Amino acid sequence: MDSILIQGERRLDGVVRISGAKNSALPILASTLLNQGTFTLTNVPRVMDVFTMSKLLTHLGAAVDIQEDRFTVSVKEAQSFAAPYELVKTMRASVLVLGPLLARCGEALVSLPGGCAIGARPINLHLAALQQMGAEVSIEHGNVQARVNGRLKGARICFDLQTVTGTENIMMAACLADGTTVLENAAREPEVADLAQFLNKRGARISGAGTDVITIEGVTALHGGDHEIVPDRIETGTYLIAGAITRGDVQIERCRPDHCEALLAKLREAGAVLTVEKESVRIRSDARLKAVDVKTLPYPGFPTDMQAQMMALMTLADGPSVITESVFESRFIHVLELQRMGADISIEGNHAVVTGNERLSGAPVMASDLRASACLVVAGLAAEGETRIGRVYHLDRGYERLEEKLSGLGAKIRRVKEAA
Ligand code: EPU
Repeated sequence: MDSILIQGERRLDGVVRISGAKNSALPILASTLLNQGTFTLTNVPRVMDVFTMSKLLTHLGAAVDIQEDRFTVSVKEAQSFAAPYELVKTMRASVLVLGPLLARCGEALVSLPGGCAIGARPINLHLAALQQMGAEVSIEHGNVQARVNGRLKGARICFDLQTVTGTENIMMAACLADGTTVLENAAREPEVADLAQFLNKRGARISGAGTDVITIEGVTALHGGDHEIVPDRIETGTYLIAGAITRGDVQIERCRPDHCEALLAKLREAGAVLTVEKESVRIRSDARLKAVDVKTLPYPGFPTDMQAQMMALMTLADGPSVITESVFESRFIHVLELQRMGADISIEGNHAVVTGNERLSGAPVMASDLRASACLVVAGLAAEGETRIGRVYHLDRGYERLEEKLSGLGAKIRRVKEAA
């Protein structure tokens, strides 16, 4: 198993380019299953989750050709409507094929994703919405089995809470439904809007994506299309924090600062100096930052996917900070690892109280999920001495060429092979 070794306390300086958004590429790839055709996607991040989704598409009968960041997907006759456990267990987002398969084939069998390190993560809202659209849904032998006679029917669906992949799954299914579907309390994430844009290029009729009410007029068929994936706002945020925590000067290119407003506001409040352009942002911080409180919320609130990295930043800030996780129930596993590096953090329910210290000390630590790993990387960049991060496959799921990008900014970081 690989580890990442970081020699900390090096100020980051330079320019880094952001890749396409993993959480946009995943539903966009899944959506190609809605019809036969050829799809050319660019700015696709080459990260493990995207490769897993490509494998799943191949299993379902598509051909995926990968040339750098350009993925060409050719979808012919559906060969299978079953997403097996072997693929789904490695990536929960595999559930995104449920809506497209059901809408196109009238049948789908998708292994039920289990819990994960950040919470139970049920998919009950995806299933209830499909039932409202006329599907018969059952769970047997660990699989979700969904069937519909003829086409799904348009429906008015009010989600109990905002779910990102739930909104995406139902929006895709509704494209081929008979009649109009209205999604209320829909997720407003930029990735939902990016998916809607791609679907509309292929003949779908979606309006309101990016707001909490999305209207989808069903059509009988979609066609092929091209799309450039939107830049990754969480990768952007992670490099902003890497710049801030090392008191560096980092220019982040090819990003969408307008998708990072909540984080930018918090960084400004903490005292970082930001220069924001349409597609770039520069962060400078040469003094110790002030502690700020943070509460995670669905977009446009502060993203849960940035909570762990922000916590790392707060471990070195001046004063106490209260970090409240309100999207997932157990997304504080990184706290124990940060404590091994000398951080002063206590947890009360879904609040973490972080008292900033003058320094962190490098230590061997273990990654538990994707964003917890990113938190340990940014902590390691600022810590005194060496930090060794184990289980880096979590990082590879969502960060493209992380060591290369950080080395380009002056970090001392490398991957080492561990004996099994
Ligand atoms: N929820 C339910 N029932 C459902 C669906 C969701 O109770 O049927 C709950 C969840 O348990 C959670 C909340 O609703 O408490 C929000 O979950 P959501 O469904 O929005 O999460 P997701 O769609 O499974 C996506 C991202 C996550 C990101 C969350 C929240 C993708 C592929 N994944 O997950 O990304 O944290 O939205 O923004 O888009 C990551 O990239 O590291 C990651 C975990």
